[in-house]
Amino acid sequence: MLPALDTPRLLLRERTLADLQSCLEMDRDAAVTRYVAGPWHDPVAHRQFVEYRITRPYPPGLGYWTIRERAEPDCFIGWVLLIPDHGTGPDVEIGWRLVRSAWGRGIASEAARALVTHAFDTVRLPRVIADIAAENHASLRVAQKLGMKWVGSDTSDGMRYERYRLVRDDLGAD
Ligand SMILES: CC(C)(COP(=O)(O)OP(=O)(O)OC[C@H]1O[C@@H](n2cnc3c(N)ncnc32)[C@H](O)[C@@H]1OP(=O)(O)O)[C@@H](O)C(=O)NCCC(=O)NCCS
Repeated sequence: MLPALDTPRLLLRERTLADLQSCLEMDRDAAVTRYVAGPWHDPVAHRQFVEYRITRPYPPGLGYWTIRERAEPDCFIGWVLLIPDHGTGPDVEIGWRLVRSAWGRGIASEAARALVTHAFDTVRLPRVIADIAAENHASLRVAQKLGMKWVGSDTSDGMRYERYRLVRDDLGAD
């Protein structure tokens, strides 16, 4: 069971199958998945993909957290993740995805900051990484605001990705 992570505006709770429909609807918005590779256009594969990611086991302290606002606690607005890179690690990826109506209010950054604190102070990870499409300026900015540093580029699925990394010791955490 993942711990609840609360922030001034947000309630982060372990993502469950109760969130499945909301996740599928969010992904069906082409603007949301524009820079993310996945089976978004195949309804059966899409459902299986999200179901598997909700129900598969993750190492202790890792997984997906659904984001809700304190002001509207019944309303799904997205998720943040902390999962083994490419499913197996050893690197751990941090990520964020919100419904379009929630963009532009600092919500991804606020949720991601709570996740970084959890990653470093509770799980004691030495670092987290994020691979972000080079055109995905909003997501690159979230990574930069977290203090993540650019460490290289790669190309896959015909898209160029920038790799960002945040190292616990660089933050002066104990
Ligand atoms: C990426 C995403 C999570 C950002 O959510 P958000 O809550 O709007 O992010 P924040 O408000 O915390 O920060 C976004 C920053 O990017 C900036 N930004 C937004 N659009 C931008 C653009 N087109 N060009 C440059 N900067 C941009 C914002 O101004 C803000 O920076 P600031 O605080 O310095 O002003 C959201 O856009 C999303 O869900 N996108 C679709 C899914 C996705 O691509 N996920 C990431 C995959 S790697």
